[in-house]
Amino acid sequence: MSDDTAKPRLVPFAILLVVVALATAGVTALLLNISERKAEERTPFVRLVEVDEDTTDPEVWGTNWPRQYDTYKLTALPTRTRFGGHGGSEALPEQKIERDPWLERMFRGYAFSIDYRDRRGHAYMLQDQEETERLKVPQSGSCIHCHASVLPLYRELGDGDVMAGFEGTYAMSYQEANAKLHELGHGQPVSCVDCHDPESMAIRVTRPGFIQGIQRLAEGDAEVPHLPSIERWRDGPRDRPYDPNTDATRNEMRSYVCGQCHVEYYCSDKFTLTYPWGHGMDAEATEKFWNEVEFEDGERFYDYKHKETGAPILKAQHPEFELWSQGIHARSGVSCSDCHMPYMRDGATKVSDHWVRSPLLNVERACLTCHHFSAEEMLERVDQIQTRNFELLQNAGAALMDLIDAINAAREAGATDAQIAPALELQRQAQWRLDYIAAENSMGFHAPQEAARVLGRASDLARQGQVAALEWRKTVETAQR
Ligand code: HEC
Ligand code: HEC
Ligand code: HEC
Ligand code: HEC
Ligand code: HEC
Repeated sequence: MSDDTAKPRLVPFAILLVVVALATAGVTALLLNISERKAEERTPFVRLVEVDEDTTDPEVWGTNWPRQYDTYKLTALPTRTRFGGHGGSEALPEQKIERDPWLERMFRGYAFSIDYRDRRGHAYMLQDQEETERLKVPQSGSCIHCHASVLPLYRELGDGDVMAGFEGTYAMSYQEANAKLHELGHGQPVSCVDCHDPESMAIRVTRPGFIQGIQRLAEGDAEVPHLPSIERWRDGPRDRPYDPNTDATRNEMRSYVCGQCHVEYYCSDKFTLTYPWGHGMDAEATEKFWNEVEFEDGERFYDYKHKETGAPILKAQHPEFELWSQGIHARSGVSCSDCHMPYMRDGATKVSDHWVRSPLLNVERACLTCHHFSAEEMLERVDQIQTRNFELLQNAGAALMDLIDAINAAREAGATDAQIAPALELQRQAQWRLDYIAAENSMGFHAPQEAARVLGRASDLARQGQVAALEWRKTVETAQR
């Protein structure tokens, strides 16, 4: 090929390049314009008052964003479904430990056997914490993390450094941290500033416990197909920690804001509030994380020793974010907000419903946007999932009671600690799984098959423990032979 045949071809190619570049710029500008307009359609507002990082009072924000504030206030209203919302009176939600007596027995030796009630709307979170009888035993300042608009308190305690302030609170008493919160004038339940950047109104996460926990998840190697930004960060240079506020997609943020609090955690005066996600988020991965933690004296981690059997127990707390992660909705990119804060029309604009509550009270907007069945049909589908889960839960609860009985009987018959040890270990494993689903608030809905698997395993482990407690005599006899 000679030079003079190649040259003339370059000219049309250059022209083509310019044309393509111009066209691309045009399309990009158009797309940007459309997305700006979409954003405008979503968030038309006039900033009548200034809000900043210290504006924890939602009423002030309500001046600028009245539609969101009006629905936010509705979280003070009662909500009741078959398994969701709360039973009992408006003065006090129903006791879970009275409804399911096996719950009370499995918590013996821990404050949850004194007082453990149905949850209710966000408006009550601080008040219900201040009034729980669980405070009759000393509780840590870490408790405040998920029950109040807490960032200004952390800044104050850490001399401007939120993380430092947060890390100090575990050593304070609950009463001390709570008094300081009120003294600073921030005695508010979760507020606008906890989920929104006051400058841009973009959603964000602020809870230090979540930020550390999700970084631990990113740094581990558990599969997270439902969190693509973590997979991207892992494939990158990893020269800085994963940062949910800059790395996550908007869709992921629509779940992260809830994952700040609706998660399994450890909170006491022994160490900083911890979210156990280093090996992943399912029941086995979080159990493994806790099993690797040691107290200062080298003892393996536990939340309490069971009062009847002495087993070192792990207590599970509301793992909504974790169970959701195991389900088909998470995997399909359906966020917490899609179901719990669905869009509502307000004239020409779309507003996110800030009345965070059971989606079963709101099936048309929460489910029918994606599922083309009647509301009745969707309610029945949920009811079927929950009924099955409830039955498995009760079965596993009964199996655990039999295990505790068997351990007690073995002790009465003279079994030594060493002979009982295998049964105690199985109690720890069975209870962890049972509690993981019992403490989760969707009665299995967030990941039905996973919930069934975990409960099946809980029953299995409880029965294995029962066998171990019955058979210690045999091991003694074999040893004597
Ligand atoms: C596909 C829809 C859907 C998604 C996504 C979803 N949930 Fe749910 N959630 C439900 C349903 C349905 C229930 C059961 C409500 C009931 O029994 O009244 C529920 C129950 C709950 C409850 C208890 C509600 C009550 O009234 O007591 C909480 C808390 C909760 N979800 C939090 C979350 C969090 C946090 C996420 C994200 C990590 C999430 N949910 C994702 C549908 C969803
Ligand atoms: C700052 C912590 C925090 C954040 C963030 C948070 N929640 Fe909650 N949520 C709570 C607490 C605490 C309660 C229980 C309050 C009580 O019982 O007094 C609760 C209760 C609920 C309930 C029960 C409502 C009812 O009427 O019974 C639902 C549903 C719920 N949250 C879903 C969500 C969803 C969805 C998100 C994210 C959009 C979210 N929460 C964000 C702490 C939080
Ligand atoms: C990681 C976040 C987080 C921390 C830390 C936390 N909570 Fe909660 N708490 C929640 C969420 C979410 C709910 C609502 C779901 C539920 O009730 O299962 C809740 C519900 C409650 C309730 C109402 C239902 C019940 O259990 O009777 C009380 C009371 C409560 N918490 C007290 C405490 C105390 C005391 C501490 C400290 C030991 C604490 N919380 C620490 C997130 C948290
Ligand atoms: C628990 C977290 C949470 C709290 C608390 C919260 N929001 Fe939101 N807010 C969201 C989420 C999630 C969205 C949807 C954002 C998206 O899809 O980009 C949203 C959206 C918005 C939007 C954008 C328009 C819309 O409706 O989608 C405005 C404005 C807003 N919230 C105002 C407020 C105000 C005012 C408060 C306090 C009264 C508040 N929010 C409290 C989570 C929260
Ligand atoms: C943003 C879309 C979206 C919303 C909102 C949504 N879903 Fe789904 N749902 C899906 C997708 C996607 C699947 C996966 C199945 C598929 O791909 O068709 C699914 C699956 C399901 C399944 C089958 C679950 C399983 O484990 O096999 C049930 C039941 C269900 N949804 C109920 C609900 C209910 C009830 C609500 C409202 C509380 C709801 N969905 C809200 C998109 C959605």
